Amino acid sequence: MSVKAIVGAQWGDEGKGKTIDILAAQSELVVRAQGGNNAGHTVIAKGKVYKLHLIPSGILYPETLCLIGNGVVIDPRVLISEIDKLQAEGISCDNLRIDPRAHVIMPYHIELDRLSEKARGGKELGTTRCGIGPCYMDKAERTGIRICDLIRPEVFREKATARTAAKNLVITRIYGGEPLDPQSFIEEYIELGKRLKAYIDDVSVIIYNAAKAGKSILFEGAQGALLDLDMGTYPYVTSSHPTTGGFCVGSGIGPSIIDEAIGVAKAYTTRVGKGPFPTELLDETGDIIRNRGGEFGTTTGRPRRCGWFDAVIVRYAVRINGLSCLAVNKLDTLSGIHPLRVCTAYRTARGLLTELPPTLEELAECAPVYEELPGFDEDISLVTSFDELPENAKGYIRRLEEICGCRISMVGVGPGREQNLVR
Ligand code: GDP
Ligand code: IMO
Ligand code: MG
Repeated sequence: MSVKAIVGAQWGDEGKGKTIDILAAQSELVVRAQGGNNAGHTVIAKGKVYKLHLIPSGILYPETLCLIGNGVVIDPRVLISEIDKLQAEGISCDNLRIDPRAHVIMPYHIELDRLSEKARGGKELGTTRCGIGPCYMDKAERTGIRICDLIRPEVFREKATARTAAKNLVITRIYGGEPLDPQSFIEEYIELGKRLKAYIDDVSVIIYNAAKAGKSILFEGAQGALLDLDMGTYPYVTSSHPTTGGFCVGSGIGPSIIDEAIGVAKAYTTRVGKGPFPTELLDETGDIIRNRGGEFGTTTGRPRRCGWFDAVIVRYAVRINGLSCLAVNKLDTLSGIHPLRVCTAYRTARGLLTELPPTLEELAECAPVYEELPGFDEDISLVTSFDELPENAKGYIRRLEEICGCRISMVGVGPGREQNLVR
């Protein structure tokens, strides 16, 4: 029995949903602890595609308890529609539990996300417009509304009315927007709260007792290391901590219960939204990767920016997360591309950098230093063991392992559950 933490090792969309779904087969609990419905985790099971935003990717296993921790920000409309959609497809959500301390994304958060992005002119962050940043702002300001408030109609009515009035001043006076009428959503939210009440439980206690009983637990990271509020490419980041440390504060546990941290990466790099991306390919090879890899956002449908594998950022993710191994997905997408390139360091006016610099200004000066590796032409999507892969595909993975200084324990060769080679 073990406790595993799964995190994105790049800028999100590394295929965490698939990797978590695979590992969840042996897990009794799967826990989300940060982010909100900005996440889009794709799970393909028995030919059916599920796109999960808030519900943990273990939900397809009826015996697995799926927990949403205090660190997650919840849009109740999205959560209820996700529950309804799954149930309509015959997937039970009876095993879902939500911590009462989790914050609620309110309609004014979504409006403020939109207005603040618009006000940045050409310098927008490229957020998902889900209201994530504004909701975490209120949490830090200590004016947020939590799930424990949502499920008490009188408390919610009072807080929502007062908070909407305060936010309307910002919406109208700072951004010149239209004020929101709290009466237009309060009763709807109260009804959603009534439905969510059945799922409320103390997630920290559940995890603690499960760990003491020796149960296997999987922590499901959303986003990725480079989107971390502190350690990512600030300000082009999300507003939570998608790192292993984020699981502790986001679900009320101590770090010592985590046995193993697994980073999920793609065999190349993608990023959706704005911000620096040293290995970005703005040429035909970038288009080939995007089209072949289906690199369009799961949540927003935006085309993802594509580029070569950047070992500088993955080494960074290994360090800040204390990763014990990596799962590398989408090796199949690279078939037919010659040669393959891997960024091993950055060249700057100050010399060669092997560590990610902390400022955008320094990062903007970085030119990637590439190592070329021979590609492969075979369709590897039906390969069932690492040894069966073409020599150059094996060589590529072994070289990534060396450059990143971290064992690669799983290799993805397709989106399905079974298209995963365990080493
Ligand atoms: P997440 O946010 O990290 O869970 O990743 P997304 O679900 O947003 O995006 C990953 C995409 O890649 C999804 O469409 C997956 O179905 C797909 N995928 C995952 N692993 C593989 C793989 O090894 N090969 C291919 N071709 N697709 C994969
Ligand atoms: P998963 O879990 C990729 C990006 C947005 C934007 C920045 C800030 O599917 O990997 P936000 O709405 O969070 O304030 O946007 O973060 N972003 C993601 N990019 N995958 C995600 O989640 C993301 N969640 C947020 O595109 O650049
Ligand atoms: Mg995603």
